[in-house]
Amino acid sequence: MNIKFQFNYLLLMCLFLTMSCDVKKTEIASASNSEIDLNTKIDSVLALLTLEEKVAMCHAQSKFSTKGVERLGIPEIWMADGPHGVRAEISWDDWAYAGWTNDSITAFPALTCLAATFNPQLSSQFGYSLGEEARYRKKDVLLGPGVNIYRTPLNGRNFEYMGEDPFLASTMVVPYIKGVQKNGVAACVKHYALNNQEHWRNIINVEVSDRALHEIYLPAFKAAVEEANVWALMGAYNKYNGQFTTHHDILTNKILKSDWNYDGVVISDWSSAHSTEEAALNGLDLEMGTGTDGLGTTTLNHYDQYYLASPFLEKLKSGDIAESVIDDKVRRILRLMYRTNMSTNRPLGRANNKEHHNVARKVATEGMVLLKNDANFFPIKDTEGLTIAVIGENATRSMTAGGGSSELKPKFEISPLEGIKARYKNATILHSMGYETGSSEYNRVNPPRLNADSLKIEAIKIAQKADVVLFVGGLNKSHLQDCEGDDRQQYALPFGQEALLEDLQKVNDNIGFVLVTGNAIEMNWLSRVKGVLQTWYLGSMAGHAIADVISGDVNPSGKLPFSFPVKLEDNAAHHFGETSYPGDGVNQYYKEDILVGYRWHDTKNIKPLFAFGYGMSYTEFELSNILLDKTSYSKEGTIEISCAVSNIGDKSGSEVVQVYIGKANSKIERALKELKGFTKVTLEKGAKKTVSISVPISKLRFYDESISDWNFEEGQYEIYIGNSSDNITKTISVTIE
Ligand code: BGC
Repeated sequence: MNIKFQFNYLLLMCLFLTMSCDVKKTEIASASNSEIDLNTKIDSVLALLTLEEKVAMCHAQSKFSTKGVERLGIPEIWMADGPHGVRAEISWDDWAYAGWTNDSITAFPALTCLAATFNPQLSSQFGYSLGEEARYRKKDVLLGPGVNIYRTPLNGRNFEYMGEDPFLASTMVVPYIKGVQKNGVAACVKHYALNNQEHWRNIINVEVSDRALHEIYLPAFKAAVEEANVWALMGAYNKYNGQFTTHHDILTNKILKSDWNYDGVVISDWSSAHSTEEAALNGLDLEMGTGTDGLGTTTLNHYDQYYLASPFLEKLKSGDIAESVIDDKVRRILRLMYRTNMSTNRPLGRANNKEHHNVARKVATEGMVLLKNDANFFPIKDTEGLTIAVIGENATRSMTAGGGSSELKPKFEISPLEGIKARYKNATILHSMGYETGSSEYNRVNPPRLNADSLKIEAIKIAQKADVVLFVGGLNKSHLQDCEGDDRQQYALPFGQEALLEDLQKVNDNIGFVLVTGNAIEMNWLSRVKGVLQTWYLGSMAGHAIADVISGDVNPSGKLPFSFPVKLEDNAAHHFGETSYPGDGVNQYYKEDILVGYRWHDTKNIKPLFAFGYGMSYTEFELSNILLDKTSYSKEGTIEISCAVSNIGDKSGSEVVQVYIGKANSKIERALKELKGFTKVTLEKGAKKTVSISVPISKLRFYDESISDWNFEEGQYEIYIGNSSDNITKTISVTIE
């Protein structure tokens, strides 16, 4: 059923065309999107559809597909999760895996890692490769990327998103989407909007200022629509201003479809629709997943009961809802089809090929962030006689299993231990788990099975024998860790790892921490270790990529896409207590307003443990000769910044030059500075290069609630240039009139 052959479709279409007479035949048959106006083609198909057929196209027929129109050869639409790999086939009616044997794929690194590369070209390769895999798996819509802003380190789904800064997320998401869509597969940007926590996600009502909404939470969605021309967008579970976001008058009708002129399809999250009237009138086009609680209790034929199924049909027939309402939805769905499964020039896609593995490895190596490196702990040379003790459950645990809808079934997944063993041919590698946690299962915490004391004793034993301890720990993809469905319950390192580290340090103080998380964590233990490498969730090539960086084959160049506060209360959302996060079970108030992430740390002078944009290298860079093209600008102008970057260390490497801008003496509340530009440059040792970064002054506007529009404040601005939000090499004042 879900195998759709382009040729069959075309054949059917041609057959149909020879039989029907009043249709604009050639227009439908020759679906070459460029030649004939797409809207004319869409209208001619729309005219052939009965009301029942139109309604059937607006809701699911199975967990991940929608009905086509058999008699006309209009195909079904097939979708798959998710942001960093194409999920395995799911059963028709429930969440169980279908058990196919041809659905394993390349697991790419999760999006926090992609964001940490600060490399838009790499994001394009990531999107293109992922799109190829989706195409090969015969998917029309890929349910990703996710661009919800990182507001709290406790959000279980942060690992699926692109960090705390709207400019970074926007810059990285656009090439990803374009890359996916080059394959004739729709990207589906999610979750629109304000789904910034998993706890109470189905019920919580978010109250946020218009300014924070427009300046912080919407820009990445806006860029996806306006710059990447994304073909699909997914609503969210939560409410905003008292209305469910999936069918929201302001978010969808006004902002998305009117202000941004979005011409794609709005898809519900799985079971996020709640009313026929609102779904019909507030811009939802395609309803998915309703009637399941996520645990597979769907009843037979439930699809007919969807809000956009029989109840919708009845209202259309009675005239309560105008036919123009469904026509708009079907037009959008047909447009998506002409872009995907009804397009005649769609590439074939491919999966599990060398090039995709290379892209996955490149993103993984470029995204890892070196946080601490006392006495050049890293890189570790592979020398005869050296003994490395690899300790920690994450050295061998699969990180593609678990996590919720982004769970993957990769063809292979190189664990950190395997990668290290493959790379280190001369050194002796010892291994012990040190601690153990239960298997990852959605919505459930499974207890560990092994004896904690024995594991610890084993680990201490090998640490004693080793020259170097590599502790591979952090979080994992289990419920209440980095996982969909709920949030973390503590900021601290879980599973007794802190105590284990303390015991290990007593016998061997040459410890480096390979930190596997998708979130910031508390680091009371930081002084116990000499090095910390933040590795994220890296997918199929995880172990090889980790070994690349640990060994020095690749020089780390990742930068943090979000701040690591010292303690939870230092994070803006948590500073304001429970009404701000997680709310009272009904409402929550984003009291920090626009001061999210580093904007808060900077403005309130609360030093983070590791700042946004921070990341070390094995070499050293110097920024010099930092110049602007002018000292004063007009509002229509562009600030041109140039900066010389020198690699003054003894290894080749890459550095990210970052430009932040702030308004001095502003009349309104402002963050001290905001990221407005960056560029990554690769330099051989001893090399020097001048880079330039342009910032259009229109990007310095603020959202003015008094006029419900963007506005500009003239006067003095400060331009901060550096290599992290807390390491500014030079600040230059300019005037803008
Ligand atoms: C998630 C979405 C996902 C969908 C389908 C939902 O629970 O929030 O991100 O795409 O399920 O698996």
